[in-house]
Amino acid sequence: MALSALPNYKARMNQYANIVLVGFMGTGKTSVGKGLARRLGLEFLDMDKVIVERQNKSIQQIFAENGEPFFRMLEKNLAKELSAQKGRVIATGGGIVLNPDNIKAFSGTGLVVCLTATPEAILKRVERDTTRPLLATGDKMTKITELLNARKHLYDAIPVRIDTSALQVPDVINRIIAISSGTQP
Ligand code: S3P
Repeated sequence: MALSALPNYKARMNQYANIVLVGFMGTGKTSVGKGLARRLGLEFLDMDKVIVERQNKSIQQIFAENGEPFFRMLEKNLAKELSAQKGRVIATGGGIVLNPDNIKAFSGTGLVVCLTATPEAILKRVERDTTRPLLATGDKMTKITELLNARKHLYDAIPVRIDTSALQVPDVINRIIAISSGTQP
């Protein structure tokens, strides 16, 4: 977006409390979120990071010691807390869509954008990652496909979606800025 369009953007941005990025693991939420926040002069917040800091445990530890339902409860409480605040770009965890209340809360005051990617692109991005308990398995591709199939209807229900498979981070950022400023449907 041209710099001259920024004041207009800021005015329009007032209609949104936050820009909330959702999507499966490896779709680019964190990289895009950080860059988007920098471009817009907003604060960036990664929900998983907040949970890790508050629990003083890694995501793997929380899943192993407290179980996934406990993690989902922390996620739900944080979504409620953050949706009542303003001025941030928020990267959610990939499973945020599992509880419709989370999306309802964020959509109530913010612009929710779903990043998507093909299973192949996702695998490439998470191949060497060891921090995601749900992908801590020998055959990551099978697990990715399985989880994507189970969640497809939930990601598809978000009206604004961007396929990041063949895009660079700045391209995704430009698209979100265009959408949020109303210069693109
Ligand atoms: C999860 C995605 C992770 C993290 C946790 C569970 C999921 O976040 O919240 O491992 O259920 O898809 P990222 O999408 O940032 O990897």
